[in-house]
Amino acid sequence: MSDQIRAIVILADETNRQVVDSALGFESSVEVVGYSDSLDQDWQHVLSEPSDIVIVACDSYSDRAAHMIDRAAKQRPDRPVVLMSQSSPNGLLRQAFEAGADDVVALPQAPEAIRFVLEKVIARRKGSGSVAGKPTAPLVCVLGPKGGSGKTLTSTNLAVALARRDMNVVLIDLDLQFGDIGLALGLSPTRTMYDLMKAGPPFDHEKLERHLIQHSSGVKVLVAPTRPDHASAVSIDYLRDVYASLRTMSDIVVVDTPPGFTPEVIATIDVSTSAVMIGMLDSLSLKNTKLGLETLDLMGYPTESVALVLNRADSRVGITHDDVTAIIGRPPDVLIPSDREIPRSVNEGTPVVASRERSAPAKAFRELAERYAKAPVRGPAVPAAANTGDKKSLLARRRR
Ligand SMILES: Nc1ncnc2c1ncn2[C@@H]1O[C@H](COP(=O)(O)OP(=O)(O)OP(=O)(O)O)[C@@H](O)[C@H]1O
Ligand SMILES: [Mg+2]
Repeated sequence: MSDQIRAIVILADETNRQVVDSALGFESSVEVVGYSDSLDQDWQHVLSEPSDIVIVACDSYSDRAAHMIDRAAKQRPDRPVVLMSQSSPNGLLRQAFEAGADDVVALPQAPEAIRFVLEKVIARRKGSGSVAGKPTAPLVCVLGPKGGSGKTLTSTNLAVALARRDMNVVLIDLDLQFGDIGLALGLSPTRTMYDLMKAGPPFDHEKLERHLIQHSSGVKVLVAPTRPDHASAVSIDYLRDVYASLRTMSDIVVVDTPPGFTPEVIATIDVSTSAVMIGMLDSLSLKNTKLGLETLDLMGYPTESVALVLNRADSRVGITHDDVTAIIGRPPDVLIPSDREIPRSVNEGTPVVASRERSAPAKAFRELAERYAKAPVRGPAVPAAANTGDKKSLLARRRR
């Protein structure tokens, strides 16, 4: 993206052009290449100007603003549309997104914050995988369709193992109702995802840093809301923005998920670069793991980007590893044994990779971490294995 953003500005009502100009900044890095005010009957002519983005500005949201967003989005689907409004964004976001807006900017806001939003939506639409030219880190989504299969155990140990390899790791607890990453890492949830959502966009680095809690390993954690009724405050569109920003300020983002494919989990899979699927050695869990892998396949997720982890892999329950391969259709990549040190470490809030380094589970989690590590602390160099392949977007396909 060139430094200068070329924007078309359309005023949907009596909004003053000055309001928009001052929102974009006095010495603006946004060049207005097309402009139409609310009296302009022929406002659609400006949409054909070569431009990077369309800004529909209004005092308050109306059918006219929705119509303008819709026209602009349909005329050039590759060009993002942002709604800039002076009214409260409450209740407006959904309508604006339904009309086809990529984002909503509630005024007043600092020009830098607005530029950040514009750059972000342009980068997202171009699929450049970057915000303001910054590289984006891989995002690993830890999945397990069945409850209690070891997702939180794996997410925490994976994150800490990567931090011990000098990586700048962000760990997100997406188990919005019953998240327990904070507990598993011995952190007190002074700030949670609920507070972040309430603070609202823009999700710039400063705001995100304020809502992350640092673990002694260096992992920065975005903990889940502390009360189940706060979960509904987490919006998928906000979540996408939070991911995009966190990926520009870290080496890797690890997301722990609740059981099942909730809308938040699907949205996360959609933007992720790799997935870890966790199963256990019993027929019910294996059936669900197989279903989970099939779902990823349906989403166009590349098989090589999915690590299959078998937890409690040494349990003697009459199912062999060959049976597992036959049921699931592929052998597990990493085997985690049952170990009574695991519940102990969870109760202490210290993951085994940090507190019981020599244990067999710690070794298994380090093996998993190797797949995503940019460079090992000791031993021979391991190439980064995090996938950045181009998978289909399930949500995008749903929208079409
Ligand atoms: N390999 C293991 N050996 C011993 N205990 C284990 C092992 N794996 C998981 N556990 C224990 O099982 C419990 C559930 O694990 P965990 O919380 O990681 O599962 P989960 O998939 O995140 O569950 P949920 O779906 O409820 O979020 C934990 O208390 C953990 O200590
Ligand atoms: Mg869990």
